[in-house]
Amino acid sequence: MRSLIDILELTTEELSGLISVANDIIDHPQKYAEACKGKKLATLFFEPSTRTRLSFEAAMYELGGNVLGFSEAQSSSAAKGESVADTAKTISCYADIIAMRHPKEGAPLVASMNASVPVINAGDGGHNHPTQTLADLLTIYREKGGFDNLTIGLCGDLKFGRTVHSLIAAMSRYKNIKFVLISPEELKLPSYVKKDILKKNGIPYEQTTDLLSVMPELDILYMTRVQRERFFNEEDYLRLKDSYILTPEKLETAKETLSIMHPLPRVNEISVAIDDDPRACYFKQVLNGKYMRMALILKLLEVEV
Ligand code: NCD
Repeated sequence: MRSLIDILELTTEELSGLISVANDIIDHPQKYAEACKGKKLATLFFEPSTRTRLSFEAAMYELGGNVLGFSEAQSSSAAKGESVADTAKTISCYADIIAMRHPKEGAPLVASMNASVPVINAGDGGHNHPTQTLADLLTIYREKGGFDNLTIGLCGDLKFGRTVHSLIAAMSRYKNIKFVLISPEELKLPSYVKKDILKKNGIPYEQTTDLLSVMPELDILYMTRVQRERFFNEEDYLRLKDSYILTPEKLETAKETLSIMHPLPRVNEISVAIDDDPRACYFKQVLNGKYMRMALILKLLEVEV
């Protein structure tokens, strides 16, 4: 039995396999319509979510399975003081697979050590978000035709943005990748990600506070929301929240082939005037997330179609 807590638990071959299955689901959805008949997915969300939770649920329904769960900690026994370990043991009696989001880094790992069914990390605090990375990878694959030779700009809250940490880890395994890290001083990429991923693998990267100066070199621009809920005080959040707002003017020097990505939700980071630009990919990411979660559920439940 396998869980997915960190994106690096999947080899690059396995990622290619998930992408092939997702592409096949897109082309032949009917083939998969009963693949998980009689199986149940539990979504245990201790933090707000729109896309991640509902795409997991839509994914399981489109595989012919069923869904149970809760969408806020207050409506679960966590509000009475139950531990993550006990919750995981309990839900294992009801469901075949669990997707868990939790504000504490490491909570889904603890759940996976106590559950008797696979656990998927659906976001743990400011740490990791491997299934958003699956959505991002399918999007990059479909936009760029592969993962090599890309200069990837990551912009905004690189400190608390868990999707950024998982995406850097995943992309660091491909050839000729360069990262451009664009953030205010206070929201720079954590040093553990630089040390354990970038430096360890000899991946070139550049850090800057200035988005405009690096725009012309980017193949991908991955915008992020400033993660208000992880700040210690509101003042700092208010000072930093609008550090980068992508507008059509700022794209004047960008490549024609740029892909603009964002895990969403967006607050102010991307002007709605960009939504119709053919380079905008963020709503494609949403849809791709559902297909990749379908492929992941099939893999972890060991269902052959
Ligand atoms: C992200 C998250 O929850 O980390 N959202 C998502 O799952 N698509 C990004 C964010 O909340 O800013």
